[in-house]
Amino acid sequence: MSVSVIVGGQWGDEGKGKVVDLLSNKFDIVARYQGGANAGHTIIINDKKFVFHLIPSGILHPGTICILGNGVVIDPVALLDEIEFLRKNNISVKNRLFISQNAHLIMPYHKLIDSLSETGTLKIGTTGKGIGPCYIDKYARKGIRIIDLLNRRTLEDKIRRNLEEKNNLLKNYYGHSEMNIQEMVDEYLEFDRTIDEYIKDVPSYLNKAILEGKRILLEGAQGSLLDVDHGTYPFVTSSNPTSGGACTGTGIPPTKISEVISIVKAYTTRVGEGPFPTELINETGELLRKTGHEFGATTGRPRRCGWFDAFLVRYSGMINGTTSVALTKMDVLSVLDEIKVCTGYIFEGKLLSNYPIDCDILENVEPVYTTLPGWKEDISSCRKYSDLPLNAKKYLEYISGEANMKISILSVGADRDATIIM
Ligand code: GDP
Ligand code: IMO
Ligand code: MG
Repeated sequence: MSVSVIVGGQWGDEGKGKVVDLLSNKFDIVARYQGGANAGHTIIINDKKFVFHLIPSGILHPGTICILGNGVVIDPVALLDEIEFLRKNNISVKNRLFISQNAHLIMPYHKLIDSLSETGTLKIGTTGKGIGPCYIDKYARKGIRIIDLLNRRTLEDKIRRNLEEKNNLLKNYYGHSEMNIQEMVDEYLEFDRTIDEYIKDVPSYLNKAILEGKRILLEGAQGSLLDVDHGTYPFVTSSNPTSGGACTGTGIPPTKISEVISIVKAYTTRVGEGPFPTELINETGELLRKTGHEFGATTGRPRRCGWFDAFLVRYSGMINGTTSVALTKMDVLSVLDEIKVCTGYIFEGKLLSNYPIDCDILENVEPVYTTLPGWKEDISSCRKYSDLPLNAKKYLEYISGEANMKISILSVGADRDATIIM
């Protein structure tokens, strides 16, 4: 039995795309289980850059089947763009990309409402991809699913019913013009033609594959602290990026999961609003952003940067049941003379024993830091643990202990090859 889950161990953008691509040659199937085109997963092979928003990061391995599970919310426009991009790069998705019939569709009104709601009192800093509004409809049992593309009458009925309600909201709450029902019906009826060939009964397919001894990698998007249940609510995304989401989002039962690999950055970043106790709003933060090219792969926004937070990573390891960690962007720290590591938070004069996900507390904690010496040496060409400078080894040892993590992969550059297997 070999089902592995990859999760983001912090606030997203940890380097999941790179690690999924790296591991994909050991897997027969790679499946996404939540989120949508809010994700931006970067893969660099011999200086050629690929960024995937919806399609799993295993797609560059010709023998790998890629799947979008029922937990994913699918923007057909973004999906077809990505398929076209792959075609232009001579990568075929024919008979190797499948979409769960139960996955929900992102509609144009989801994207519009996403951007309009960001102008209200609570600004989350969303990606504007319609994620929250689509999951709202899913849980309100009003959503339109991939399977609905197969029945033109149902599709048309559902769009009409939804749009009547949304137009009321647009006009009377947001003071926005209404959307055209017929145009939307015509546009989505067209997707029936282009998307039908990918639709599958994914839970049956995956569970049969497990029985046949196939190896499956479940690729999380976003990060654990963006989880709607376990993250820094309300500054989160609207799905469950943590490992539990991998089961509900694919139809693979928990008893079939054999390992959980957390992808963790050697420092911390966050995009959008919300508390970030170890954030560096100074020259060091700027230096990390510049050296690590910390700009969003989906929106291009500058990412907020800060010190490694071992307290946070210990918490995310607990929630995910992490069995091993791939630590990324270690090379970026080479520019620093000394490096701080947060080991805990003080709140109202007391050291907290459990991670506080309440934002009012998180906004007011004081991080406790240990300062370690830097190594000031380029490590991007190291390919063995023994090649690393002593201070880099000491940093790894220290954060492994404080964050309670077993590092099995160390990434020292964006390229597929810039990797040390520990
Ligand atoms: P994801 O969303 O978790 O897949 O991560 P992103 O692709 O949004 O952001 C990670 C960025 O870091 C991308 O630009 C990667 O190419 C890059 N990257 C990944 N691993 C490393 C690494 O070890 N070192 C450096 N310098 N860059 C890396
Ligand atoms: P990957 O998979 C980092 C953030 C947004 C915002 C919040 C809610 O590339 O790691 P949403 O559009 O999901 O409703 O936005 O979540 N966010 C991400 N941050 N990486 C991501 O994905 C993200 N996807 C969403 O910036 O703060
Ligand atoms: Mg990303």
